[in-house]
Amino acid sequence: MDLGLRGKVFLVTGGTRGIGLATTRTLLEEGADVLVAARTAHSIERARAELAEHPRADFVQVDLRAPEGGRRAVTAAVERFGPLDGVVNNASGFSIDHGHPDRAAWLELFELKVLGYEAVIQAALEHLRDGGSIVSISGIASMRYWPLSPHVSAVNSAVEALTRHYAAALVGRRIRVNTVVPGTTATDRYEGRVERARAQGGVDAETARKLIDSTVPLGRPVDPTEIAATIVYLSSRLSASTTGATVVVDGGAVVVPDSALPSAGSR
Ligand SMILES: NC(=O)c1ccc[n+]([C@@H]2O[C@H](COP(=O)([O-])OP(=O)(O)OC[C@H]3O[C@@H](n4cnc5c(N)ncnc54)[C@H](OP(=O)(O)O)[C@@H]3O)[C@@H](O)[C@H]2O)c1
Repeated sequence: MDLGLRGKVFLVTGGTRGIGLATTRTLLEEGADVLVAARTAHSIERARAELAEHPRADFVQVDLRAPEGGRRAVTAAVERFGPLDGVVNNASGFSIDHGHPDRAAWLELFELKVLGYEAVIQAALEHLRDGGSIVSISGIASMRYWPLSPHVSAVNSAVEALTRHYAAALVGRRIRVNTVVPGTTATDRYEGRVERARAQGGVDAETARKLIDSTVPLGRPVDPTEIAATIVYLSSRLSASTTGATVVVDGGAVVVPDSALPSAGSR
């Protein structure tokens, strides 16, 4: 299937690791040019090395929590590759604590995933071709209880609301706006959960991994390439009639209650 992405120009935020890196790689393999925006020089250098065989990838170091961050990322993409065909709002990061999130934790996430995504969209609208695409990444905490994470639930819900707003606002320009909603996905964040479960439960890493995997109805974390494939599909002409959608890729976690999981009997 030809996705029609050859020569198209994309901005991917948080494209140096996990889901963002997998998305960047898939877009490059489909022939697109990709400008990746991320916060640290370290993650940029690592991603640059991993994508060394792709001359059409470039990077900008920018803090997307900063008021001018979104504009800086968009400007870097346009200066490097020209007008945009697609934007992927994916950057995320929050401190994990063991208590109710304090005000600083709320602000950290809100500034990045709500104000930051909004700033990227606003700056991109001046340079996004009519018929282009915006995909934002939320997470299943918007749809089900996630202990100690009301800020993650609220912020991911806001990401989905932003998508619906811009999907409606931009139909006149045929710019499609969609959300992809990952469940537990095998990125650095998953490895962090394994480490915490290991330390808290006093179990080995293999047992901790099995415990976490048993909370995913399909029995394993989602692979970042599976989320990337959904993002790239929604960024392509194959989804030309899809806008305002919220597409869940979670191994069944939203529709299967914990009490119906195969592991529930042994808890
Ligand atoms: N992984 C999961 O299980 C899961 C589940 C639900 C939803 N999601 C969502 O999926 C998306 C990707 O998750 P992931 O696990 O792949 O992420 P990740 O591995 O934590 O990577 C986050 C990316 O965002 C960048 N970033 C963080 N803070 C930034 C800032 N202030 N300015 C610019 N860039 C920043 C990071 O760059 P640096 O490394 O340079 O900081 C990195 O490239 C996120 O929106 C996340 O909320 C993930």
